[in-house]
Amino acid sequence: PPLGKCFNLHDFESVARQVMRRGAWAYYSSGADDEITLRENHSAYHKIWFRPRILVDVEQVDSSTSMLGSKCEVPFYVTATALGKLGHLEGEVVLTRAASRHGVIQMIPTLGSCSFDEIVDAKRGDQVQWLQLYVNQDREITKRIVQHAEKRGCKGLFVTVDAPQLGRREKDIRTRFEGAASDVQKNNPGAIDRSQGAARAISTFIDPSLSWKDIPYFKSITKMPIVLKGVQRVEDVLTAIEHGIPAVVLSNHGGRQLDTAPSAIEILADVMPELRRRGLQDKIEVYVDGGVRRATDIIKALCLGAKGVGIGRPFLYAMSAYGEPGVVHAMQLLKDEFEVAMRLIGARSVGELGPEFVDVRGLSMH
Ligand code: FNR
Repeated sequence: PPLGKCFNLHDFESVARQVMRRGAWAYYSSGADDEITLRENHSAYHKIWFRPRILVDVEQVDSSTSMLGSKCEVPFYVTATALGKLGHLEGEVVLTRAASRHGVIQMIPTLGSCSFDEIVDAKRGDQVQWLQLYVNQDREITKRIVQHAEKRGCKGLFVTVDAPQLGRREKDIRTRFEGAASDVQKNNPGAIDRSQGAARAISTFIDPSLSWKDIPYFKSITKMPIVLKGVQRVEDVLTAIEHGIPAVVLSNHGGRQLDTAPSAIEILADVMPELRRRGLQDKIEVYVDGGVRRATDIIKALCLGAKGVGIGRPFLYAMSAYGEPGVVHAMQLLKDEFEVAMRLIGARSVGELGPEFVDVRGLSMH
């Protein structure tokens, strides 16, 4: 179908499913085990209802905000996803170019198909990029990656903390894995095990011994803000604050790691009231990702206190099905949805959003 027939982010998924190679589709779409968390990630948003405000002048709606001190046009970013060339010949640079058209921040994956430098070279003007880091057992390699990223202008270091071992994604394991890891192997020296599906094959270098004790080390090698990606409970947000961590991403890795881990939005609804109770809400920026498919999802997360949200698969699907124009269109759809939804709930700017706009009594932890 022509791109104009995609009216929302779900549409890209069904097109991608038809046009992608089987193994590529399996790698992008799969979740861990029974995929309960994968499904919950999006459906959790359906348990939150709006409390719209009426008779507010909403002629002008402003979607802009800032994340980790960088200005951006919208409160969502392209999160890090590995193996971009499975979906598109050119890989992650397609996402970079689309993001630059919309003033959207991009998180560069450690396991990109394109090299880190290719992805940075593809950026235009003052476009903002962050680095997602899988910590190598060889800390010299990690140090080199981090310091190079800082030198090349990355504005944040997102250390993935929910993957000491990769989850079992059975769809991916079943289709096995052919060839896709060779680019990654080139960029990241480390053994490849081809018997295990794409995810496992490319991740054997990740250090499972990573712990809170390593935080001072990261602080010693970079001035970039260090962000923990994959925090899943309020205690760990508090510990992050104690370690002087400026931001966390509440995330279950798109349902690809621990199955039956809760959705990020559910954790957020738990975390923010606790931070407010302790007067810590301004000590740390909180981001969420997983299952965000509609601007209403984004707005709900912001109402509950998120500074921004990450989006993964929808942009991969848009890229795989239509290349750069697809991703540009997907971002435009979200921008359009955002404006409509803000008007309908009676809010003019990101700063006006707050818990009074949502009813969270349907969430299971409340
Ligand atoms: C990911 N994710 C991920 N996260 C990370 O820290 N390093 C990585 O290499 C990857 N790779 C990756 C590949 C693919 C194909 C997917 C779908 C996801 C997780 C990603 O950053 C994010 O947490 C989720 O994708 C968010 O969920 P949605 O938006 O995909 O539902």
